[in-house]
Amino acid sequence: MSGWSELRRVLPATADVGEAGRLTIGGCDVEELVRAHGTPLFVMDEEDFRSRLSAYRDAFGGENVHYAAKAFLTSTLAPVLSEEGVGLDCASGGELYTALQGGFDPRRIVLHGNNKSDEELELAVDSAVYRVVIDSVHELEQLERIAASREVAVGALLRIAPGIEAHTHDYLKTAIEDTKFGVQLGEGARRAIDLAARAPHVELEGIHCHIGSQVFDLFPFEEAARVLVAFLAEMRRATGLELPELDLGGGLGIAYLPSDEPSAVSELAKSVLGAVEAAAREHDTPVPVVKVEPGRSVVGPSMVTLYRAGTIKEVPGIRTYLAVDGGMSDNIRPALYGAPYTFLSATRPQAPHDRTYAIAGKLCESGDLLSKDARLPDVQPGELVAVAATGAYCYAMSSNYNRLPRPGVVAVRDGAVRVLARRETWDDLVRLER
Ligand code: LLP
Repeated sequence: MSGWSELRRVLPATADVGEAGRLTIGGCDVEELVRAHGTPLFVMDEEDFRSRLSAYRDAFGGENVHYAAKAFLTSTLAPVLSEEGVGLDCASGGELYTALQGGFDPRRIVLHGNNKSDEELELAVDSAVYRVVIDSVHELEQLERIAASREVAVGALLRIAPGIEAHTHDYLKTAIEDTKFGVQLGEGARRAIDLAARAPHVELEGIHCHIGSQVFDLFPFEEAARVLVAFLAEMRRATGLELPELDLGGGLGIAYLPSDEPSAVSELAKSVLGAVEAAAREHDTPVPVVKVEPGRSVVGPSMVTLYRAGTIKEVPGIRTYLAVDGGMSDNIRPALYGAPYTFLSATRPQAPHDRTYAIAGKLCESGDLLSKDARLPDVQPGELVAVAATGAYCYAMSSNYNRLPRPGVVAVRDGAVRVLARRETWDDLVRLER
């Protein structure tokens, strides 16, 4: 049975129970939030979000942290990231455009992507981003051509797939040998670096890798650090080229269930920085500056989704379905990865959560189940149901399937509410068709 103290382990820092007995976040009552902004609704605890950014800043230094926009970014969130003194990792031209629209300083932006278009690279070069992470020799040539046409030099990193096994879902592994990302460690990487060193408009500053996402074990991060420092040392010996930056990507796991025990950011920093220093000593090479790109472990735990409970259907002897007014269109992760989540009654968070429900979304698809075994009280239609830790890859991966409008996103702090993204209307659904 999940009690309030267990639920608190997956809820954002300021989650509490208000005078009305309902869930409050950032001093705001959930019922008042949904009265103004509807359901489903993503609620970001801004205090919690900022404190996770500051944990990364303290551990690695703000100039070495690039928040991964792919987990969640709106133009309205960009100023918060600027204020917190971190950089931004963008995975596409669209993310870069969003950041620029939000007034984010391009000199703090890194652009990724395994198949960047000319248009995306042109936007990166023209806005003078900090680094472009080159994914292939083809892209190196593409970037050189674009930078040359503008007579500018572009700072770059080379993405390497070091063949590291991160213990996570198959779809979330990105650095194993058989991956579409980056150049293979060894001959492939040596050749790309050699070509980059000779490209007049590309300034190669270092190498990059990202081993995967939702990783609990720190060992694969250390292993990646060791392997890449050894490679930097080998390149330096062979060519005299000294690359000062090592970007280790993101990937730290978070608690979706009260029983999950992810590592703290300070532990991640201790183990990778320690591994980098030890490997540099062993190979007698300078210690590179370590950069990181956390997404999930910053924004994941800082948001909850609020749904309104609707139809309840009992299949005798099998299970009880509780339908909510969203589903795979606002959270595809259970259907796509079998991802688990913690549910609670936001109307009665302290009631005993002693019933088991299958949580059905409202989309016309049998696979649209948010959970097969959510623990909740005896829920009544109309009650608010909250899902914890939905900040990462939920709104970011949302769709209009079944022509459901996307939910709104609000940030709450000290009793004040700020709209990060307004809720879509039916009219928004046809706006591209006129
Ligand atoms: N850097 C690079 C190059 C990445 O590819 C990613 C995530 C990150 C940083 C951020 O990783 P994080 O700290 O968030 O784990 N849609 C999936 C996750 C895909 C992650 C892709 N890359 C999910 O919902 O679990």
